[in-house]
Amino acid sequence: MIENFKNFKRTKYCGEVSLEDVGKRISVCGWVHRVRNHGGVIFIDLRDREGIVQTVIEEKQNKEIFDKADRVKPEWVLGITGTVRRRPEGTENPKLKTGYVEIVIEDLKIFNTSEPPPFPVDEETHVSEEIKLRYRYIDLRRESMKENLLFRHRFYQIVRRFFDEKGFVEIETPFLTKSTPEGARDFLVPSRIHPGKFYALPQSPQLFKQILMISGFDRYFQIVKCFRDEDLRADRQPEFTQIDFEMSFVNEEDVMDVVEDLTCRLFKELLGIELKRPFDRISYREAMEIYGTDKPDRRFDLKLVDLSDVFKNTQFKVFRQALESGGVVKAITLKGVDLSRKDIDDLTKFVQGLGAKGLAWIKVEKEKLTSPIVKFFSEEEIQQLLLKTNAQPGDTIFFSADKRDQVHKILGSLRLHLAERYGLIDRDKWDVLWVVDFPLMEWDQEEGRFVSLHHPFTSPKEEDLHLLEEALKEADLERKKEIVHSVRARAYDLVINGEEVGGGSIRIHRIDVQKMVFELLRIPQEEAQEKFGFLLEALRFGAPPHGGFAFGLDRLVALMRGLDSIRDVIAFPKTQKGICMLTSAPDRVTEDQLREVHIKVVE
Ligand code: AMO
Ligand code: AMP
Repeated sequence: MIENFKNFKRTKYCGEVSLEDVGKRISVCGWVHRVRNHGGVIFIDLRDREGIVQTVIEEKQNKEIFDKADRVKPEWVLGITGTVRRRPEGTENPKLKTGYVEIVIEDLKIFNTSEPPPFPVDEETHVSEEIKLRYRYIDLRRESMKENLLFRHRFYQIVRRFFDEKGFVEIETPFLTKSTPEGARDFLVPSRIHPGKFYALPQSPQLFKQILMISGFDRYFQIVKCFRDEDLRADRQPEFTQIDFEMSFVNEEDVMDVVEDLTCRLFKELLGIELKRPFDRISYREAMEIYGTDKPDRRFDLKLVDLSDVFKNTQFKVFRQALESGGVVKAITLKGVDLSRKDIDDLTKFVQGLGAKGLAWIKVEKEKLTSPIVKFFSEEEIQQLLLKTNAQPGDTIFFSADKRDQVHKILGSLRLHLAERYGLIDRDKWDVLWVVDFPLMEWDQEEGRFVSLHHPFTSPKEEDLHLLEEALKEADLERKKEIVHSVRARAYDLVINGEEVGGGSIRIHRIDVQKMVFELLRIPQEEAQEKFGFLLEALRFGAPPHGGFAFGLDRLVALMRGLDSIRDVIAFPKTQKGICMLTSAPDRVTEDQLREVHIKVVE
């Protein structure tokens, strides 16, 4: 039944047949999307990358081909030759690109059959993600998935054209390399030739792009895979793609300008949207204080208000204790949503899941305040509270009292949760902003040491350099923390609609500064030498001032397509558990393979 393709010549994509083709004899290839037998006349909707076209044959026209058409099933692969005609009046389908025409079948070839697909190729049927990923080739036949990947293709082309125009050179950097730290675990690849030694897959091309600047390439870019062994979420994959670039002899403004140019071009060319320039800027501190996060979503209000002052002498023990132990009391006000006790209980459970001890609340009503805690408040406290939160009848105020970081985490998450749950997000808005003035390092309580907020190659602000020296000399840990926390980085993150879509910085190009940073991060000299010796050495041979940036390409594409998960814009993504459902990687390997790379698995 399967026929030879040899003498077939496709002349058109299914999705491109139009009124202009009426009267022409054409040949199309594709998959059977749908077959309908109306007794004496059969319609086959044939689908390819560009879309769907209706083809038709009547029994009286050619019995042999009619019978063949009668046998075909969904997802069979056909070649159809025929003459295009205008669809009879009243049978047009304006929803379809090809909806005004149909092909009258003169010849039909069956190039392949198909088992019934595990799920229909449509947008309506709900299918679990595991099944979709297992049969990804079928999933990718769906219109929306296909559009996502075609969009991504157009995105790449704009990026390449942009950087080429601006004089950036595309250079590939190695995947089999040494650890390039970005705060995650490395994926390791054992060496066969060097027993006991491993390559690490790069978490980013960071060190190589800096070395390229030292080589004098001046402007580099790459669309590049990065590998990070970390816990996965909707916006994280173990391998993902960055648009990575680096420039020499530049300051923050120069790099940020390139990022704004490219972002605007992508939005303009792909979505027809003009973003407002320059992008807004907000300091890290302000972002944390007002939104409780370093990636604020400003498409809705719900700002955090500090009430520590209002309650400094309060009788309410929950607030008093928090303040006495150096914490803060902050609140957010949900406007105009009538919450039931059950709603409030749910919200309390939500914050408890984040480690909150509770969720104090006040419902503001016309004549009174409803709340289990107002009885502890003085008249003055209530007045100040209403003034500062600007709460009106119908609003509910939620409080968090704890250490500052914890309050930010809780109210920052509650803010997002409330916005989602009560539909407060303006979905037509694009909120684009820079977060700047990050601290260079923060104290990691668990590890008992300072860690970089970005990576250890990020430059501190020139005017804060002396603080590094001071911090190194300081013996008292608490004082040292204070000094280190006040050192600001020359770093900038790009945030769109509350998602971090990219980040970058001006780098350290002076070896003395790089050494000080390693020392503060408590990376001992030998370890620094062993891990980054090649960079330290290169810094000794004329490193120019330089800086750069990397976009998370998958995140930006998903955002522009209005998708929640980056898995929808990656052809073959992994599940939340890091599994490729299609190939079932990761998988066991043979004893021989293990022996060759000198590895023994301990079960
Ligand atoms: P950073 O670590 O911030 O910076 O990464 C840049 C951007 O990459 C995206 N991203 C991810 N996307 C999907 N899955 C992941 N697991 C993942 N991790 C990160 C984010 C992020 O903003 N070398 C520096 C850049 C520089 O300084 O030039 C770097 O890698 O959108
Ligand atoms: P309690 O006195 O522990 O019963 O708490 C009184 C109210 O304050 C309850 O509504 C708790 O949910 C709330 N609450 C307790 N701890 C906190 C906290 N750290 N921050 C905000 N509210 C809290």
